[in-house]
Amino acid sequence: MTPESHSLTGDSPTGTDGPRPGPPPGCPAHGPGPGGPARLHESEDLRTLYEELRDRHGPVAPVLVHDDVPMWVVLGHAESRQLVRTPAQYCKDSRIWSPLRDGLVKPDHPLMPHIAWQPMCAHAEGDEHKRLRAAIDAAVAATDFRGLRRHVNRSVQRVVNRFCEAGEADLVGQYAEHLPMAVMCHVLGMPDEYGDRIVEAARDMIRGTETAIASNAYVMGALERLTARRRAEPMDDFAGRLIAHPAGLTDEEVSQHLRVVLIAAFEATANLLAHVLRQVLIDPRFRSQLNGGQMTVPQAVEQLLWDEPPFSTIFAYFAKQETELGGQRIRKGDGLLFAPAPANVDPRVRPDPTADMQGNRSHLAFGGGPHECPGQDIGRTIAEVGVDALLMRLPDVELSVDEAELSFTESIASRHLVELPVHFTPRPQQDETQRPSHENDTPRQQDWHIGAARPQPGPAGAAPVRPEPRVQPPVPVPPLPPVTEPAPPRNAWQRFLRWWRGY
Ligand code: HEM
Repeated sequence: MTPESHSLTGDSPTGTDGPRPGPPPGCPAHGPGPGGPARLHESEDLRTLYEELRDRHGPVAPVLVHDDVPMWVVLGHAESRQLVRTPAQYCKDSRIWSPLRDGLVKPDHPLMPHIAWQPMCAHAEGDEHKRLRAAIDAAVAATDFRGLRRHVNRSVQRVVNRFCEAGEADLVGQYAEHLPMAVMCHVLGMPDEYGDRIVEAARDMIRGTETAIASNAYVMGALERLTARRRAEPMDDFAGRLIAHPAGLTDEEVSQHLRVVLIAAFEATANLLAHVLRQVLIDPRFRSQLNGGQMTVPQAVEQLLWDEPPFSTIFAYFAKQETELGGQRIRKGDGLLFAPAPANVDPRVRPDPTADMQGNRSHLAFGGGPHECPGQDIGRTIAEVGVDALLMRLPDVELSVDEAELSFTESIASRHLVELPVHFTPRPQQDETQRPSHENDTPRQQDWHIGAARPQPGPAGAAPVRPEPRVQPPVPVPPLPPVTEPAPPRNAWQRFLRWWRGY
């Protein structure tokens, strides 16, 4: 495609190397109206809108966000990779954004909390970004993943204990939103802060309700106390590692980065967990593939990272120079939305959007390039163990409403499942240090237990079972022992599985 002559930001010379030609009459970037750029924030069905934009404009489309501020949305998979992987042309420093410099974006613009520049890794670039990322990457790299899996399992037991006797629950509000917060409070170094209050505060901050400022102050208070404690008394947890790193982060930098980590991990992992559980509950084929061993839990999680990336869009990248992307002429100072949701269904990489993507990790749910998510393996671990251990504990869990009654709140940034009401056989509370088990006084469900070693022949034409640790060997397995006693591993494979999972 040849670059078009129009500009997203019109005639303003701000942030450009000189005067710009205005858009030609009828240009899609000229203003809203028939054939004009779509208002993303007004759309009630962004998926359909993105496909219409792809048909109309190709892989990069002009759009408007709140207050009719112009931006590009990058819809193509290859173009998205180019955007995030070319720091010489695009950065995340909003101070160069022309509409902001021109005063078109007011301080109270709804996107300012996402976009306003802050001295943090998510906005920094070059050497400053490397300094901040070095501390975060080192803190993540020191994670003992087997210990983390064990801890996630314990947290699952603790969270499920709160509702297992009732025989019903909302798996979004009572589970998917609690588990990541319980785990992240432990990972960061403040396990005692976990509770309903901090989950509500994080929810509040993300939704931007009128109490969001008070909730932010509550979360920041906890993180500042943690920073001060670790400065005085070093320990080997995430906060302690950030403080000890030679990058020399100030207390303010430490607590602000702990906030980014806590909130990014909470929101993204809660969304991912909810999306995977929803898929298991609404799609019998998906569930039976897991049940039968044709799909491992990590593969199921990866499939949902393709289909429902927890952040549908990231605010935002900005052009450092005049350039071309996906056939569009991009001006210096233009803003571009990095949008994993439409990029993951680009027909050039997924001609059949319903096809399984098992084994293919080239989705964009974690971004790419210098800002690629540093916590992706922590997020994956929470989601994988969160699905596996829940389904082992509540093997007969079923949706309590019709699939059509499940609703989402959709913003440009993410698609959030509102509720996931389920029922199951009421079960007694379980010692959280035990391995997950559904052995108790209720009959065993023969057709659904993904965590135990019970492979089934796959349907005709199914993919062969891969030699991965979560795939079960084709041997009959005796019943699990009662929950009060830890089950001794029965054979080498099961000992390996126990070692691999950490529980
Ligand atoms: C399923 C879970 C998660 C998803 C889908 C996810 C996704 C993302 C995405 C898309 C970005 C932006 C990449 C870009 O700007 O190009 C990001 C950045 C980031 N994420 Fe995650 N994330 C997840 C979990 C976590 C966890 C558990 C942590 C904590 C360790 C974390 C920490 C961060 C940080 C610090 C950044 C900013 C990195 C930078 O700008 O250099 N995320 N994440």
